[in-house]
Amino acid sequence: MLTPEAVASSKDTIRTLVVGANRGIGLELARGAKARGQKVYATTRKSSDTLSELGVVRVIEGVDVTKDDDIAHLDGSLEGVTLDRLIINAGILKRTTLDDPNFDAVRRQLEVNAIGPLRVAAAIRHRLADGGKLAILTSRMGSIADNESGGSYGYRMSKAAVNAAGMSLARDLADRQIAVALLHPGYVKTEMTGNSGHVTPAEAATMLLDRVDDLDMEHTGVFWHANGEELPW
Ligand SMILES: NC(=O)c1ccc[n+]([C@@H]2O[C@H](COP(=O)([O-])OP(=O)(O)OC[C@H]3O[C@@H](n4cnc5c(N)ncnc54)[C@H](OP(=O)(O)O)[C@@H]3O)[C@@H](O)[C@H]2O)c1
Repeated sequence: MLTPEAVASSKDTIRTLVVGANRGIGLELARGAKARGQKVYATTRKSSDTLSELGVVRVIEGVDVTKDDDIAHLDGSLEGVTLDRLIINAGILKRTTLDDPNFDAVRRQLEVNAIGPLRVAAAIRHRLADGGKLAILTSRMGSIADNESGGSYGYRMSKAAVNAAGMSLARDLADRQIAVALLHPGYVKTEMTGNSGHVTPAEAATMLLDRVDDLDMEHTGVFWHANGEELPW
């Protein structure tokens, strides 16, 4: 009987790393990628029972996307692993309004939602195979063109910033044929939305994984709704 690590070393299997996979959409991305026969590596700050029992190749704990040491630990944990797909899902939503801008919350969202994905991508890109794929969970709330309701300063700013980072990553990784997508999952029933929303995390994950399947160099730098609609910047 092969160990999960031995199975993961087979050459023709897609190897996928999901960053921020203990709950919500990230958990379902890990579950869904595994169900598609991919060899899944999953990071978390602290594992959940559900993630631990999912049977992914490896759960890498102690990975806070705001901490350089944690990302160095993640990189070290992947020694000898070549990834085909990197999906950066980790994110937070904190209330920030004009009356109560809460600049600490604005800063924290920039740190987690915008700098975090850049930190991970910069450190882990050498683990991605040439011809691989990088997907970052953003939000249509990061669209400046689509902003018709205002508010949510910190979240909107952080997702607009990660969109900018994603486009630069698409340009900078093009010579290695690594395609980059910025993915909006839809309005999803998770802790982030207080379990309101239009779709379940599993439904969102299915669509998101379809988008990652579709992603190629013709589409690199795309800002996609999970349903395949291209979103305005
Ligand atoms: N739900 C929606 O409707 C919606 C809409 C648009 C975009 N999104 C985006 O989709 C992604 C997933 O959202 P979700 O709805 O699944 O949210 P969620 O249920 O709140 O889960 C957020 C995930 O991010 C992780 N995380 C938070 N801060 C982190 C940090 N500093 N370092 C590492 N991991 C961290 C959490 O881990 P812990 O358990 O350790 O906190 C958790 O695994 C986010 O990027 C979010 O902005 C969601």
